[in-house]
Amino acid sequence: MHGLFIVFEGGDGAGKSTQSALLGRWLEEQGRDVVVTREPGEGPVGEKIRAILLDPATGDLSPRAEALLYSADRAHHVDTTVKPALARGAVVISDRYIDSTLAYQGAGRTLDLADLEPIAWWAADHLVPDLTVLLDLEPSEGLATIGERDRLEAADDDFHARTRDYFLRLAERDPGRYLVLKARESITAIQEKVRGRLAELEAADPEVLRVDRRSALRTLFGAETSDVEGTLAP
Ligand code: TMP
Repeated sequence: MHGLFIVFEGGDGAGKSTQSALLGRWLEEQGRDVVVTREPGEGPVGEKIRAILLDPATGDLSPRAEALLYSADRAHHVDTTVKPALARGAVVISDRYIDSTLAYQGAGRTLDLADLEPIAWWAADHLVPDLTVLLDLEPSEGLATIGERDRLEAADDDFHARTRDYFLRLAERDPGRYLVLKARESITAIQEKVRGRLAELEAADPEVLRVDRRSALRTLFGAETSDVEGTLAP
């Protein structure tokens, strides 16, 4: 039995947490070992990092410091939660992962993505999700559903527009590993599509999944990836 790593991404208020929880419950009902988790904020260390990042009282953070704090949360999350669960054959469902750093800190805060991307992947120990579900939504629609805005949600409209566009670009770059859905569709319709895609993934040979991860890394880092592949997580 092999684990599966599924990630939900998208703007604020797109319904990622609802979809993660529904998918997790459905898989559990089938007797699967499931870990539903999130970034930032899993576990006591994650909670502390999340508080620094999201509390409006933190005020302005250097964008590089912000990117590194999200990446630090992810490094700890990957090592202590995600990889151990995958190793025992569990399905891991994460509400946000590396694309959020590339979209929010890279495109949103306008950091140089050529610098940020390798650092972000290093922090993630080069663990590529089997499937990333992008719930795409006009930022103003998502933000309208949120009461009190946290530090990131409070950023201006241009920031959120850049973030949304970059999520879509990441999905376009690697279509085989993404499922892009309109977040305005009904909760049930979205859930059905995710379950359908999951069934396809599950039918695939685990060996094929490993090959896919390598090709994903090749797409990300170019042809000279032999050293990166050497560190590829199982
Ligand atoms: P959440 O409210 O979906 O839990 O996410 C917290 C906020 O953090 C959300 O506004 C998106 C933002 N975020 C980043 O800016 N970079 C990241 O790497 C992650 C994981 C989240």
